[in-house]
Amino acid sequence: MGGGIAQVVAASGRRVSLHDEVPGAVERGVAAMERSLTKLAEKGGPDPAEVLERVTPVDGLVPADLMIEAVVEDAGVKKAIFQAADGILPAEAILASNTSSIPITTLAAATGRPDRVIGMHFFNPVPVLKLVEVIRAVQTSDETTTAIVELAGDLGKVAAEARDFPGFISNRILMPFVNEAAHALMEGVAEPEAIDTIAKLGFAHPMGPLALADLIGLDTCVSIMEVLHEGLGDPKYAPCPLLRQYVQAGRLGRKTGRGFYKY
Ligand SMILES: NC(=O)c1ccc[n+]([C@@H]2O[C@H](COP(=O)([O-])OP(=O)(O)OC[C@H]3O[C@@H](n4cnc5c(N)ncnc54)[C@H](O)[C@@H]3O)[C@@H](O)[C@H]2O)c1
Repeated sequence: MGGGIAQVVAASGRRVSLHDEVPGAVERGVAAMERSLTKLAEKGGPDPAEVLERVTPVDGLVPADLMIEAVVEDAGVKKAIFQAADGILPAEAILASNTSSIPITTLAAATGRPDRVIGMHFFNPVPVLKLVEVIRAVQTSDETTTAIVELAGDLGKVAAEARDFPGFISNRILMPFVNEAAHALMEGVAEPEAIDTIAKLGFAHPMGPLALADLIGLDTCVSIMEVLHEGLGDPKYAPCPLLRQYVQAGRLGRKTGRGFYKY
């Protein structure tokens, strides 16, 4: 997600500093950007070399007008990054998170600039999907919200504003759907292909819930269900045991070569 976000921001003419704590991850991200930009250039997109020239790999947080954090979906890891960013980015900078479910209000509270903390939730694949869910923490100012909605428009995206409730809008609706598909599979209602075919041909979804879960990452799906379960307190949001088992087995989806399907 970090690479995709860096790509669309750089394609809009802005300079981007890209950091990942794992050696080689930024290079893999840049290689993926190059492949995506080459495809987009065939359809009239910007010159890949020009876009990539605006992306600078960096080692750690650096001063900037905006941070868009897209690390692993773990509240503790994200909180530590927001605390550190508060000390490194200029006081007027906005600190945004691409989190799918972690409360923006708690990230804002970890900083000395809670009015300038916001959720900027992109969708996968970032260069293709038009939506950015903009999530206002309790503390987020109108100015910050307006700036991020305008930025989303500048990136060629459409913003949908949400308040900071568990799962926001998108995952409150999507994840229970994915979770229910996993339950149907676990109960032997149908094979994965049949479940996904129902959603594709019956509901006109571009991909079925199990293929989508593999794309999102089954670990991320479990984390989001846990946030819904804990935050809303309703047992209907408990992660499906089959999802948990696949995660325990290291079947995280496309990123590990196996999830509900083999890649
Ligand atoms: N995958 C999706 O479809 C999707 C969609 C929307 C939002 N998101 C959100 O985006 C975020 C990232 O998701 P992803 O699927 O790209 O995950 P991922 O596991 O593929 O990538 C996360 C990256 O963060 C890096 N990282 C972890 N801790 C770090 C730290 N302390 N400092 C710097 N880098 C660190 C990891 O090395 C890894 O490369 C999550 O919050 C997720 O909920 C994901």
